[in-house]
Amino acid sequence: MLKTNDRNDPAETVTPMLRAGIIGCGDVARQHMEGYLKSERFEVVALADVSAQAMRGFDRRYAGSAAYHPQHFIDYKELLKQANPEVVSVCVWDKDHAAVAVAAAASGAKAIICEKPMADSLGAAAEIIAACRASGVKLVVGHQRRFLPSFNLAKRMIADREIGDVRMMTAYAHDGLPNFSSHQTDIFRYLLGDVECTWVMGSVERETDRWARATRIEDKALAAFGFASGAQAMIFLELTPEWGWTTRIYGTEGMIECGLTDVRVMNAKSRGWKVHEPASEFARPGEDRFEYIEGNAAQARELADWISGAAPGHRGEAMNGYKALEMVHAVYESARTHTQVWLPIKTRVNPLELMVAEGHLQVRYPGKYDVRARPPHSEATEGLHNT
Ligand SMILES: NC(=O)c1ccc[n+]([C@@H]2O[C@H](COP(=O)([O-])OP(=O)(O)OC[C@H]3O[C@@H](n4cnc5c(N)ncnc54)[C@H](O)[C@@H]3O)[C@@H](O)[C@H]2O)c1
Repeated sequence: MLKTNDRNDPAETVTPMLRAGIIGCGDVARQHMEGYLKSERFEVVALADVSAQAMRGFDRRYAGSAAYHPQHFIDYKELLKQANPEVVSVCVWDKDHAAVAVAAAASGAKAIICEKPMADSLGAAAEIIAACRASGVKLVVGHQRRFLPSFNLAKRMIADREIGDVRMMTAYAHDGLPNFSSHQTDIFRYLLGDVECTWVMGSVERETDRWARATRIEDKALAAFGFASGAQAMIFLELTPEWGWTTRIYGTEGMIECGLTDVRVMNAKSRGWKVHEPASEFARPGEDRFEYIEGNAAQARELADWISGAAPGHRGEAMNGYKALEMVHAVYESARTHTQVWLPIKTRVNPLELMVAEGHLQVRYPGKYDVRARPPHSEATEGLHNT
């Protein structure tokens, strides 16, 4: 399909729409969908989910859009074979990212958006990267906060030295480091201009048998990171009641507090805290799910530009996703080895799994539970999903 200009002027260029397929039609897939539709650069031609109900839920929600006309597949491999999408969204749980992304890389797709955390181990993440490189597929990891105006303003202020040299950044997390904090480790690097994290030291507590979408997680964690620029960062996971997407940045000449919609700055010229609310493009601040719509639409548009050659790269390019996961797994590796861990780490398996297998980190209160799993799609759970 071609996207024509409003005036239907044949002299004006028309942009070819990219054909997208989404694998896994749950919560985050809805964000990919809205990103594709709002960016106006994609048509959604295929959905795959083991639950037909989940796909029907998407039809009910998006059927009104001209760019939404998907075939449905229960088996994602059939989607790749029969629908031949140019872009594939990998929106299944972390443990399945590698299998689905590797199959998508071999399918002839031009690009993949793989959800965060990139995989459930660094070995699996490396497999995805290798498969995409071998097939010349562009690979993006869905850390959509790189595309929010607030984080981009804060990044610019840091680059412009509005708070001098960054010394320390802090963030508060919950529901497991891989699930929640891969966004935060990614944002630390992004704010500093994608500088390398050089070392990590961390500690975890796991007294309950806690999981997030079938990935084993901890109850509490404390993590410290060192960067090549000389800055440090810390994550506090469930050590206090606070959690969220705010990042506090402390510099030699001021402070920045960056949230999803606004940036507060205090420096010599601000006379106290000065609040900035940068303009957004695809959603209104305060609107329901603002960050997901704004972030995913900008993420999708930049991917379309990367594919067309209009953009030299993509902010969510795979190695950034890999490094965000590496920082998280280095916290576990530090806890496992009781050492300050220097990056890159060589441990290919999930160090938290290794710790448990080695008999450390015994659960004190048995009873497995998952903080992110939802009941399977069925008539009985209609309304609980995709809302
Ligand atoms: N970027 C973000 O802010 C963000 C937000 C939420 C979730 N996520 C990530 O997205 C991923 C999915 O999380 P979610 O909350 O959307 O999960 P979800 O449970 O809401 O959805 C997953 C869907 O995948 C389907 N599925 C399972 N196995 C499948 C298979 N083999 N083939 C096709 N479909 C299959 C399930 O039926 C379900 O509909 C996770 O990796 C999570 O970490 C990212």
